[in-house]
Amino acid sequence: MRAKAAGMHSKDCVKVAVRVRPFNKRERDAGSRCIVSMVTSSITIQDPRESQSRRSFCFDYAYWSHSGFTRDRGGLYVPEEPGGRYSDQDSVFQDLGEGILENALQGYNATLLAYGQTGSGKSYSMVGYGPNKGLVPKLCDRLFQAIRENQDTRQCQVFFSMLEIYNEQVVDLLSRGSRTPGGLRVREEQQRGFYVEGLRTVPCDSAPQVEQLMEQGTRTRTTAATHMNANSSRSHMLIILQLKQIFSKESITKQSNINLVDLAGSERQRSSGSEADRLKEGTAINLSLTTLGNVISSLADVAVGKKVVHIPYRDSVLTKLLQSALGGNSRTVMIATLSPADICYEESLSTLRYAERAKRIQNRAVVNESPTERLVKELKAENARLLQRLSRLGQEGRRASDETKELRQLLTHNELQIRAIQTLWEQHLQEALKDWEQQYANITQERRMMQMHPYILNINEDTQLSGVVKLFIQEGEWDIGLCDSTPRYISIKGLGIQERHAVFRNEQRRVTLTPLAGSKVIVNGNSVSQTTELQHLDRLILGSNCTYLFIGFPSERGGDDWSRYDYDYFQSELAAAEGIHLGESSAGSSQTDPSLLAVFYDFIKLMPMVAEANQMSQELNKDVEFKLEIKNLALSDSKGHDLKKEIVIIVTAVGRKQVWMWSKTKFVNRKFLMEDAYQLHQAEKSRDNIAEGLSTAVLPRDKDPFWDPVEPLLLGSAHLWLQSLAFRIPLEEQLEVLGSEGTEEAILQAQLVPCTSTGLAQGEDDILIDPSELLGRRLDFQVVLEQCCGLRWIREARDRGVQIGFRLFDCSHPLYSPSVWHNVNPLLDHRVHFASLHTSQRLLDYLQSSAVVLELWGLQEGCTDLVSSLEGVRMTAEGIFIIEEAGPANPAPVDSAEISCSVRALQQDMEELKSVNSSLRKENHILREQLNAARNGGEGVRGRSVRPSCDAEFARSLKVFYHSMTSVRGQLQRLRRHRPSEDSDLLGFRLFVDEQSRLLRDFSEQLEQSVSTLKQDVAAIVRRKRERSGIWS
Ligand SMILES: Nc1ncnc2c1ncn2[C@@H]1O[C@H](COP(=O)(O)OP(=O)(O)O)[C@@H](O)[C@H]1O
Ligand SMILES: [Mg+2]
Repeated sequence: MRAKAAGMHSKDCVKVAVRVRPFNKRERDAGSRCIVSMVTSSITIQDPRESQSRRSFCFDYAYWSHSGFTRDRGGLYVPEEPGGRYSDQDSVFQDLGEGILENALQGYNATLLAYGQTGSGKSYSMVGYGPNKGLVPKLCDRLFQAIRENQDTRQCQVFFSMLEIYNEQVVDLLSRGSRTPGGLRVREEQQRGFYVEGLRTVPCDSAPQVEQLMEQGTRTRTTAATHMNANSSRSHMLIILQLKQIFSKESITKQSNINLVDLAGSERQRSSGSEADRLKEGTAINLSLTTLGNVISSLADVAVGKKVVHIPYRDSVLTKLLQSALGGNSRTVMIATLSPADICYEESLSTLRYAERAKRIQNRAVVNESPTERLVKELKAENARLLQRLSRLGQEGRRASDETKELRQLLTHNELQIRAIQTLWEQHLQEALKDWEQQYANITQERRMMQMHPYILNINEDTQLSGVVKLFIQEGEWDIGLCDSTPRYISIKGLGIQERHAVFRNEQRRVTLTPLAGSKVIVNGNSVSQTTELQHLDRLILGSNCTYLFIGFPSERGGDDWSRYDYDYFQSELAAAEGIHLGESSAGSSQTDPSLLAVFYDFIKLMPMVAEANQMSQELNKDVEFKLEIKNLALSDSKGHDLKKEIVIIVTAVGRKQVWMWSKTKFVNRKFLMEDAYQLHQAEKSRDNIAEGLSTAVLPRDKDPFWDPVEPLLLGSAHLWLQSLAFRIPLEEQLEVLGSEGTEEAILQAQLVPCTSTGLAQGEDDILIDPSELLGRRLDFQVVLEQCCGLRWIREARDRGVQIGFRLFDCSHPLYSPSVWHNVNPLLDHRVHFASLHTSQRLLDYLQSSAVVLELWGLQEGCTDLVSSLEGVRMTAEGIFIIEEAGPANPAPVDSAEISCSVRALQQDMEELKSVNSSLRKENHILREQLNAARNGGEGVRGRSVRPSCDAEFARSLKVFYHSMTSVRGQLQRLRRHRPSEDSDLLGFRLFVDEQSRLLRDFSEQLEQSVSTLKQDVAAIVRRKRERSGIWS
């Protein structure tokens, strides 16, 4: 679908297009829903959590590239049927590319920006993949075609440059020399505006030449990304095409610059804002993208007539270079790319909002007259003047021979300059063509090598940079590593790569790989230390994260599709080897919990980053270790429901035994800062040749991304179920405190004590048979934390402490026990008295269905204790916490639909008990009436004693029942946590299944037994009552 909005904006508004891509593998696995729809040029996005919430936007163009396509024989994605709604690369080019070309040919500057989150299709639209060529190559194709068609009327010159902005440094992607430390300088000149000093501009006269240059630039990008350990999604790629048209007949020259910009992933901008961190990465991570956003906002404000004092072009490199494209002399188009999957809702909405703002920007484009042409014109005019003067001097005789000499010199100088300007193009073009031929020969050579030898192919997180580097393994023995001095070497760079890392042997049509001492080599997910024979399509990871696909001998290669071995594949395989199977084993099954899948993908996305962070820490002598953990894997909330799982990173300062827990966002941000510190260190190392690790001591603590002030750490939690309180039955428990992943952190002794308002414990006679008797009445109880035993946290390091935190009913802030230090089995002896002055149904429901989650917090030397915030808490003078005020009972809220099955079973039993209870009451009532009828004093005394004794018996059996229920519940929790061991084989799984059924059997036996005991007890009580009433009647 390619739609042009009716009533387009005035000519020079920034034109905005949106494009939605097909689902990727992750999204398909997660069973994603499409939440974006398009009608002509308007696009609607729906909030996946609220079906009523929709937002619509209108743009100049909207492209549906999500569905309705097929792959033709040549590999092109085309509409399923002619005229279908699918927008292919051609249709996007026809709208956006042709317009830009037309503008450029008319002499206007033109700019095309691609904006969107990483993986949304920016590079697909700009550069393209394989046969599905993007805007840039198509534009070049058409440009040279137009030049050929217009040969008679004008002479055209095209110059091509390609650069990358990474961390505010400009890297020339076509530079033949070594990389300038600190990047190229951006300078400003009155005439030219901002430009990159020393940027290579290559004259071109054909589309293949441009394509080859782009390939060269991509290769530079790829090697730079692996060498510098830099993430390409953080960098902006900028292609500048300069088009100069000389109309000799009209003696005018038109010049236009075409900027083609593949922006950094937009997600970086926001993710850091959501969470406060000591180090303010948000602005540093991508200053250019943030500033671009600010410039666009300011310009959008200008367009609607707001007063804007300052537009912050000068705040970043990108906005300096794009100044004319934004609100200046350029015709500008933005293509905003997005994923229509529900899981990308936030990002996609943010992209649409951004695009909407860009739409308002107004430019003032003018046709450019070339400064060089003017210079020639001026020089020619000056020469004419000089000649006139000379001839006048000649007529006046030899009087002024000095002046004549000077004038002649000037004249020659000017003529040389004119000739230089005019011959520049020809000469440079010849040089560039020679260069191109050389490069072309290299490519041909590479193609030949591919048909002869096995090789390894780089795989990058950014698909655009995958398969760019090919390293051939010819016959014989080859060292691979940083070294480039031995005669037979394959030189690679990257984190964790040793001087001599491993040896490849290609002998008798077999290729083996032997890791050298101390180097990390992973083949198909498994770490190897011995010589390993490689098979076609094996996956190699060298060092921390240099990923390669092995391509075997040509005879071994079938028509296989290598594209499935992408970066995700490598990481999933690695995760599987580490026992994380979540996604792979259940991929495709519709029951897979999407949130679990999201956690799995987070895990595999972060895994290589953690490996890299560990390597940097090691090289910088930071003594810090990073480890991935799934938070809440084994934990549940106060109702026993699973908690939301997410990835956290456990950071340990090994020597100092300090531990931190970082969120995913914080880690990702910190990792960028670590990269910067690391690159700085590398640069210093190479400059000063200083001893390794020395320079980093200089980094001040408050800027050190590897460090944080210590904080209390949540170690784990235990559940203390409250149901017995509804019957005023005291409870004493030994609770297992479980860590996030199910490890036992400690045993906690705790009690629930029903008490009087003065804090005296109540006895058996106060036990209630029917909790509803509590309604409207006062209820007092104490939560007692007696002792912690076997604290793992303290066993690991003695100079640590712990606190217990918990929350009850409506309290919004947790209460904490005082801290205890240095003791593996500390006495807590902490008692908190709670009271409800007017017990409501809601509180009763809460008591019967919930637990207090007791959180175990670890304290470390130098961190402050957690203190209970008493904000909004009502407390009596005696220190009793009031959980419900006197007053009308609150209306009972609708309970959440899902109740865990144990609670449900208990409630069923409760119902039975209630009906037994009510029949007992009825009997009691009859008894009492009979008693009254008898009106016998002696009998009256006996009659009073009957009820309490029966009730007490009943209460006792209830108490037994609830105690056994607690143990049943414990059993249920154990069952839930029970999972097969990570490296189980078939036998392991059998054993697991056996164990599981044994546990289940135990569980059901226990349950049966407690219920039947209760039933027997009740039956006995009823029988006894009947007997007694029989005596009296
Ligand atoms: N319109 C599209 N049609 C088909 N595949 C697409 C489309 N847009 C993106 N893709 C695929 O999605 C992946 C990510 O796209 P890419 O352009 O590299 O993202 P970005 O540059 O925004 O990070 C690539 O594998 C690409 O082939
Ligand atoms: Mg990209």
